[in-house]
Amino acid sequence: MHPKILIIPGSNRSGSFNASLAAAASVELARQGADVTRISLIDYPLPLVDEDLKERSGIPDNAMKLGRMIAAHDGVFLCCPEYNSSIPPLLKNMIDWVSLISRDGDRPLKAWQGRYVALGSASNGKFAGIRGLYHVRSVMANVGTQVISEQCSVGGAASAFDEDGNLKDERTAGMLANTCKSLIAHCTLMNSR
Ligand SMILES: Cc1cc2nc3c(=O)[nH]c(=O)nc-3n(C[C@H](O)[C@H](O)[C@H](O)COP(=O)(O)O)c2cc1C
Repeated sequence: MHPKILIIPGSNRSGSFNASLAAAASVELARQGADVTRISLIDYPLPLVDEDLKERSGIPDNAMKLGRMIAAHDGVFLCCPEYNSSIPPLLKNMIDWVSLISRDGDRPLKAWQGRYVALGSASNGKFAGIRGLYHVRSVMANVGTQVISEQCSVGGAASAFDEDGNLKDERTAGMLANTCKSLIAHCTLMNSR
């Protein structure tokens, strides 16, 4: 069975480098045999996480949709911008809302629990967004996912992709291919147990 992988870019910016990385990851994962779904958080707007709001109105519909979608996949590939060396609010807010879900109707739902997660980052800066990934890795471990060691960081992102969306630099393309390979291997192993 092909592992099901969900790809989520952590930026809604027009021309987002992390959306470009998500597109390249999508092609690579499919090439390696995964069943890929790629979304944009622009289609799932969420209020700022707020426990009073949750108490009054429950989990927002878009968080429930994301939670169900995450739970229906074996693995998640997050493409993360780095904001002030850390995780951007769009991504953190989505992760937090999904972490607050405990039920879907009368069924338990812990969407992050047990998912394999791969991390990527893209930045035009020379650190390639790598400092932010330390924080994303820690957050994702704390919500119960298994974050794989391999990751892909793209520096000089404004000129890193060719007109077909491929990574121009061989080493960086290899890093993406290895990250995808490991994510697929972990998901396949989990499915075979
Ligand atoms: C509030 C803020 C803080 C940022 N801090 C960093 C940073 O620490 N390191 C970095 O490489 N880029 C930083 N940037 C620049 C982002 O990497 C850049 O905006 C990038 O294009 C965001 O990803 P995107 O293209 O996917 O939207 C920051 C941008 C913003 C808005």
